[in-house]
Amino acid sequence: EPASATSRMKVVVCRDLGPDVMPLLRARTELDVVVWPEDRACERAWLLEHVPGAAGVLVMLSDKVNEELLDKAGPTLKVVSTMSVGYEHVDLPALAARNVRLGYTPDVLTDAVADVSVMLALMAGRNAKETMGVVQRGEWPNTSWSPFSFCGPQLSRPSPSSTRTAGFIGFGRIARATLARLVPFGITHALYTTSPGSAPSPAQDAQYTRQFSLTSVRRAGSLAALARGSDVVFVLAPGGAATRHVVDERFLRQMKRTAVLVNTARGTLVDAHALARALREGWLWGAGVDVVEGEPAVGSAHPLVQEPRCVVLPHIGSATTETRLGMATLAANNLLAGVFGEAMQAELDL
Ligand code: DGY
Repeated sequence: EPASATSRMKVVVCRDLGPDVMPLLRARTELDVVVWPEDRACERAWLLEHVPGAAGVLVMLSDKVNEELLDKAGPTLKVVSTMSVGYEHVDLPALAARNVRLGYTPDVLTDAVADVSVMLALMAGRNAKETMGVVQRGEWPNTSWSPFSFCGPQLSRPSPSSTRTAGFIGFGRIARATLARLVPFGITHALYTTSPGSAPSPAQDAQYTRQFSLTSVRRAGSLAALARGSDVVFVLAPGGAATRHVVDERFLRQMKRTAVLVNTARGTLVDAHALARALREGWLWGAGVDVVEGEPAVGSAHPLVQEPRCVVLPHIGSATTETRLGMATLAANNLLAGVFGEAMQAELDL
């Protein structure tokens, strides 16, 4: 027997998750499933209008989960489920204070984001933006092959006697999956930093060194040491106030002039204006970013978009069909577990 409209619990879903996933929610007759009807980011006004009395909300990373939203939802709210591994858009203390649980989507997107991280390292080092521009503008016929034009630094180790160091700001699942992909490129060393509170662990580093079969994997003594020692730097830490602009002018000035910077985490980690200046003035070789502070308001006049040595992608790190389906399914299942008071497949410890 379907429950009556008044006894059904309301869940608000900020995006239609398609024919493979929506039935998971719609099949639950105990739920009143309210879905943003358009194929674009959910309007704030619509969300605030529909969220009062909801037991659960399924959001995208473009939907801010803050005091305003939680107050509107009121005491019925049990769970917020975000279709993302990142939670920079979520006010965690505000959720914790209200005993609202948070579901998120780790693991299912690790491989897709690691793939794009390596892709951007290659594209940035090998002048993809500039050289594709040559072809797009029809200039190839006037550009004959020449010994040293378009050359950039090689990601893979150029000779068995040389070394290559990959640096990681943040060394979680995606960073480690990225390093695993770099092993066949002949990377010899890895440096990483983690949150300031976590203690260095030589035993853990020895274990990583064995796991990746490198000469060494170790925690860098400082961000400066990581900047100075790395041939390629991957920014793969969570966003938020604590990590805002960890890559700033100071960091960029310490990088090797032949190095490449990749950001596939959150735009707020990198000072975009400092990076544009650094590229213009040659403090580093190139950059590849999938995320930019202030996105999606990143137009063609943005200083990074203007830089020939900066490959800019519109936040597509997890955009494979398989991964997005996995994320949407996990987000839907987390929502269901949250409203029915069950164990979630992926719940963030608040
Ligand atoms: C996330 O999940 O946080 C990514 O940024 C989008 O896939």
